[in-house]
Amino acid sequence: MMHLPDFGFGTTQFWYGDDRNSFACMEKAVKEYGITMIDTAEMYGSGECEKAVGKLIRKAGRDSLTIVDKILPENAHQRNFFRSLERSLRLLGTDYIDLYLLHWREDADLEEMSSLMEQAKAQGKILHWGVSNFDVHDMEELLACPDGKYCEVNQVLYNILHRGIEFDLQPFCTEKQIALMAYNSLDLSRMRSQLKKIPEIQEILKKEAVSIEGLMLEFVRSHGVCALFQTASIGHLDDDLRNTGFDYSQYSNIIDSLYPAPSHRIPLEKR
Ligand SMILES: NC(=O)c1ccc[n+]([C@@H]2O[C@H](COP(=O)([O-])OP(=O)(O)OC[C@H]3O[C@@H](n4cnc5c(N)ncnc54)[C@H](OP(=O)(O)O)[C@@H]3O)[C@@H](O)[C@H]2O)c1
Repeated sequence: MMHLPDFGFGTTQFWYGDDRNSFACMEKAVKEYGITMIDTAEMYGSGECEKAVGKLIRKAGRDSLTIVDKILPENAHQRNFFRSLERSLRLLGTDYIDLYLLHWREDADLEEMSSLMEQAKAQGKILHWGVSNFDVHDMEELLACPDGKYCEVNQVLYNILHRGIEFDLQPFCTEKQIALMAYNSLDLSRMRSQLKKIPEIQEILKKEAVSIEGLMLEFVRSHGVCALFQTASIGHLDDDLRNTGFDYSQYSNIIDSLYPAPSHRIPLEKR
């Protein structure tokens, strides 16, 4: 099972916005907050985000970083797989990717995809591989493929307000020794601003001198899931990571009573 860090920094903000601020945030996250994992994808900005990660690799050094990249399902077959992988390696300016994920399932042939992942691993071009946005039935199909058992990670939507995976996907992945990684850890909906108005939550934020975003990251981490997040604002970055690392378990009953884990199956939410 691949060991994942508590937090990873995402890169879609390079796609949507101001590159200079986004880069400054990514660099500060690495240099000052000790973030080591950077998450990107061939889809993000059609390679622009990978290029930005390449610049970070040149500045911070390859060995200090764990690079996660994702291949589109439309490229995860014999004809395009290595072309996509080589392009990503070229844009990143590295000769290996730490963790290579199938971005989502769509109509990818899982037997072919997992075999190609294993070939890339044998060539040293990737160190680990996994999938993203796979629900339990997708994982079952993958694990039934000859090379499916080598899948090490599933990256899925998960946060304090969207706890569906806790009912079935997380126990399944734990049993199969597949690590989970969360995107949307901070939740993009308006609900986030509502959260910090709840008196019990306000009390936690005050006691720990932590932001609502910091509490949301801790929620994910404390559930054994690597929390991806992103920001293009230095002020937000400082808010997100300020005083994280507190003992979340003392507050888990409060959070669980406000936002309980599901008592029934919820199909995997995606974005
Ligand atoms: N596998 C997949 O299908 C998939 C899907 C989506 C994302 N991802 C990955 O996950 C990474 C994380 O991104 P996400 O889209 O899931 O979003 P997220 O990190 O949950 O939320 C990011 C949003 O929160 C805002 N934010 C951050 N800190 C804030 C603060 N202190 N105060 C107010 N707003 C704050 C950011 O805006 P500002 O820039 O203004 O701070 C941004 O709009 C992505 O970069 C990508 O690498 C993967």
